[in-house]
Amino acid sequence: MCWPPRSRSPAVSRLPTSNERAVRKRILSTVLCWLAVVLILRVLGTILSSYPDYFPPDFDSLFLQGREATFTGVYRVAFYLHIVSGPVVLLNGLVLLSEHVRRTCRGVHRWLGRVQATAVLVVLLPSGAMMAKHSFGGWGGGFSFLLLSVATAGCTVLGIANAVRGRYASHRRWMLRSYVLICSAVALRLISGAASAVGVEDPETAYIVAAWVSWLVPLSIFEILSSLTRRASEETT
Ligand code: HEM
Repeated sequence: MCWPPRSRSPAVSRLPTSNERAVRKRILSTVLCWLAVVLILRVLGTILSSYPDYFPPDFDSLFLQGREATFTGVYRVAFYLHIVSGPVVLLNGLVLLSEHVRRTCRGVHRWLGRVQATAVLVVLLPSGAMMAKHSFGGWGGGFSFLLLSVATAGCTVLGIANAVRGRYASHRRWMLRSYVLICSAVALRLISGAASAVGVEDPETAYIVAAWVSWLVPLSIFEILSSLTRRASEETT
């Protein structure tokens, strides 16, 4: 018999090493990333499922109801450009954020990056801004969409400028912000879905609130998380 008695499982009682903590953090962030990807794809599927209402336009459908007068000319062109470019940008952004693709196929990342920049800056945002003036939420919602377009354009332009100058850490941060803002389309559908599930009385006000919350809250969460991550990595170095 030995004294003092040894613990039966020393691995259970000791504190995790910094290496183990880093591995755990990595596993947690990978799981969260995959959950976000699944959520984005699931909501995109729901958005696409209403496309038969738009080809040809069905004015009894949820989005087009009561829009006969405004669904003409430039608005009509902007609408179709928007609903075609939206899913492309959402999916392309997922591929661009993949570290695996960036490391193994640099050429593909660069090429898809050019597609993303063009689709976002030339098609998605101008068409979204154009549609904002006839938003369901009136000026309350429309102003939110306009500001969202300007913010997304700003982040995308800064992301491109940093890539051109070879500042890849900043490039990544600005492009992540741009994608978080693009994902407002997903957040808006989730919030609107939740609002109608609980049976809100005033759908127009709920939509205006959802329009603002769908990008301001995810952007704030992104900023808080990235400053916490930066501080933690500064402390360990
Ligand atoms: C920052 C980016 C975006 C902005 C500023 C924006 C802006 C807008 C605006 C103003 C409307 C009309 C809303 C209304 O009349 O109340 C709209 C509708 C729409 N947007 Fe976007 N959008 C963006 C991103 C996306 C993305 C990524 C998708 C991808 C699926 C998308 C898909 C749609 C669709 C399908 C509609 C028609 C309504 C519906 O079927 O739900 N948008 N968007």
